[in-house]
Amino acid sequence: MFLSRMENHCFLLFVFVFQAIFILILYRGGPSRVFRGFLESPQVVDYSKPHDVYTNLSLFTRAPHEDTMPYCSAQSPVLVGPLTITFRVLPSERMIMKRNPFVQSGGHYKPPHCFPRYKSAILVAYRNQEKYLRHLLYYIHPFLQRQQLSYTIYLIQQAGTGSFNRAKLLNVGVREAMKDEEWDCLVLHDIDLVPENDYNLYICDEYYPKHMASAMDKFQYTLPYKSFFGGVSALTPEHYMKMNGFPNTYWGDGGENDDIATRVESCQLCIGVHFFEENPGRIHLAGMKIVRTSPHLGRYRVMDYSEETELQEPWRRPPSQHNTRKTWKADGMNTLQFRLLSRTKHPLYTKITVDIGYVPPFS
Ligand SMILES: *[C@@H]1O[C@H](CO)[C@@H](O)[C@H](O)[C@H]1NC(C)=O
Repeated sequence: MFLSRMENHCFLLFVFVFQAIFILILYRGGPSRVFRGFLESPQVVDYSKPHDVYTNLSLFTRAPHEDTMPYCSAQSPVLVGPLTITFRVLPSERMIMKRNPFVQSGGHYKPPHCFPRYKSAILVAYRNQEKYLRHLLYYIHPFLQRQQLSYTIYLIQQAGTGSFNRAKLLNVGVREAMKDEEWDCLVLHDIDLVPENDYNLYICDEYYPKHMASAMDKFQYTLPYKSFFGGVSALTPEHYMKMNGFPNTYWGDGGENDDIATRVESCQLCIGVHFFEENPGRIHLAGMKIVRTSPHLGRYRVMDYSEETELQEPWRRPPSQHNTRKTWKADGMNTLQFRLLSRTKHPLYTKITVDIGYVPPFS
């Protein structure tokens, strides 16, 4: 009798410990994060042996019958890891088109050989940076094709010459892109960044907003500060709406990214409560936080930065006056106003030009 009671206790203890480990794993960002170490082979992160971004892409040829086309394999067969990147020669638009024969008008692509598992919209806020744009297109098109994604590249351009409002342009981009397709993932991409490793997948994390530019060359491949959310990030349309999108009220460069990180955290409460009411079993998954691509994979090359100015710039921005923790619900997708001036399909991208209303002059 005594023994069996002991056993019973041991069993309960075992169950408890096991559950605790399980919950911890999920809490830390999902099993993929914990087990990823086992999936990475050394050559995936060996940056001394990079490959051309167009390597073996020609293996993807049109399937003979579209109705018998298989699903794309869970892991793309052509991924190589580190990629060769140089900005010395400016590629022409015609050359980029020639090297990407399956890209359709508007910068849209779906794999010719298989049925895609993921659909990602790539959103880039833009203001006449033709040079950056061409470098980016040369690399990003084959990069996304290597991952067997269905995608469209959107440029969102602000009309006029006043201060730039990146966050509001991205809000516009999300609204307009969702009219085209039920995207699984919105990838918000700076124009001057190029990913260095094709295992850095441009798909969303199921539970949390994902920050992908976790290691940029201009920051010596580390984060400039802990809550950094700039460069490239991926959110599902659901994440995006839950945090009320991005703020419409930041002008000039920077700043808005810290606001966005704060939104993600603030939203933790709202979603926590939401899940608690509807689905108490999942309370430990409820809060939003930021997950990050591992710095071995989330490496980016920045075009054309000057080392001196970057070193002078304060990496931790001064605290903003916006008081985001209180105001995020009153500034974002629910208050977004703009006038769509044009929406044109270029061979390599869709360009959306907007009048975003009052713009303060350049300071
Ligand atoms: C390209 O594909 C061929 C044939 O499948 C393969 O043998 C080769 O290793 C691939 N190259 C790279 C760099 O992955």
